[in-house]
Amino acid sequence: MKMLITGGAGFIGGNFVHYTVKNHPEYEITVLDALTYAGGIETLEPVADKFTFFQGDICDHELVDKLVSENDIVVHFAAESHNDNSLRDPWPFIQTNLIGTATILEAVRKHDKRLHHISTDEVYGDLELNDPAKFTETTPYNASSPYSSTKAGSDLLVKAWVRSFNINATISNCSNNYGPYQHIEKFIPRQITNILSDIKPKLYGTGEQVRDWIHVDDHNSAVHAILEKGKAGELYLIGADGEKDNKYIIETLLELMGKDKNDYEHVNDRPGHDQRYAIDATKLRTQLGWTPKYTNLREGLQATIDWYTENQEWWKAEKAKVEAAYAEKGQ
Ligand code: NAD
Ligand code: DAU
Repeated sequence: MKMLITGGAGFIGGNFVHYTVKNHPEYEITVLDALTYAGGIETLEPVADKFTFFQGDICDHELVDKLVSENDIVVHFAAESHNDNSLRDPWPFIQTNLIGTATILEAVRKHDKRLHHISTDEVYGDLELNDPAKFTETTPYNASSPYSSTKAGSDLLVKAWVRSFNINATISNCSNNYGPYQHIEKFIPRQITNILSDIKPKLYGTGEQVRDWIHVDDHNSAVHAILEKGKAGELYLIGADGEKDNKYIIETLLELMGKDKNDYEHVNDRPGHDQRYAIDATKLRTQLGWTPKYTNLREGLQATIDWYTENQEWWKAEKAKVEAAYAEKGQ
């Protein structure tokens, strides 16, 4: 089977390439990635001889048409993915997440190929902090930020192409991922690399917001379960019951790295900050028989700390630039 992976030089897509090479050698892999600030070919260096790489934009009709026509399955990760950036400048999000997804959908329709669209739990908006409810596949869409609204729009495009043109597509909406190769603008790697750089970790506002953490390999094993056993036209939520507030995460990282757990700063809050995400993954678990492997968050965080400690050449050159951009907003 020939598989086209968009965004395969980013965090989750890159880990997906590694995971697929290791666990599913039946796939012949092609990666399409624009190598924006968030993508790096170095992420794929350990598996460099196991795939074909095209540097290009998912909004490029001609290139997308050609690559889709040459493959059997498209797994679509490419996106602008950071909420804070979408508050600075929404336009790249509108372009890549909406126009880019529409470009892929048209090629998939024309060449009658299988598509799996990677999306986020943020399309559902947020939950109250003390509400026992979790997101399910029937929760109404209610996105909050320019990032999450463009992801919600991309999901609706996929649903419309399924309904109107009967394309063979599935969607998954996953909670917050952590693990190796995540860009250091994101919460967990930002704090680990802060501590490694003698910068105090930065907590937005009170830090009471809750995220439902999942290891990136568990996300990717779920995507493979959907590719193998998922039903055309269906949407699956992916989550591993990893709800923690941001304060807990920052204190745990400090503790695991041998520091005083209170040695962090409160900084300006994110405008429109979503309070809580939580996933009910019953459909994925019962219908597709999927279970997560990384159920001990402290162990997963320790392994992630070890990775960033041992791979400083992967992130060091970016650190000053990322922190300067945050400093402009008092974050
Ligand atoms: P990322 O920002 O680390 O990587 C995105 C990749 O897409 C990069 O390699 C970038 O170069 C590429 N890209 C961006 N614009 C492109 C374009 N126009 N054409 C081609 N390539 C382009 O993102 P990530 O965290 O790995 O997220 C991947 C996907 O998973 C996204 O669709 C995101 O919405 C979704 N998701 C992320 C999380 C999370 O916790 N990070 C959770 C759920 C879903
Ligand atoms: O829920 C899935 C989503 O998770 C994905 O769709 C997004 O692509 C991904 O970026 C992530 O979105 P979040 O906005 O939840 O992740 P982020 O890492 O930016 O922030 C996690 C939480 O930590 C959030 O409540 C904001 C807070 N935070 C973030 C940073 C960068 C801080 O307190 N300090 C920080 O320095």
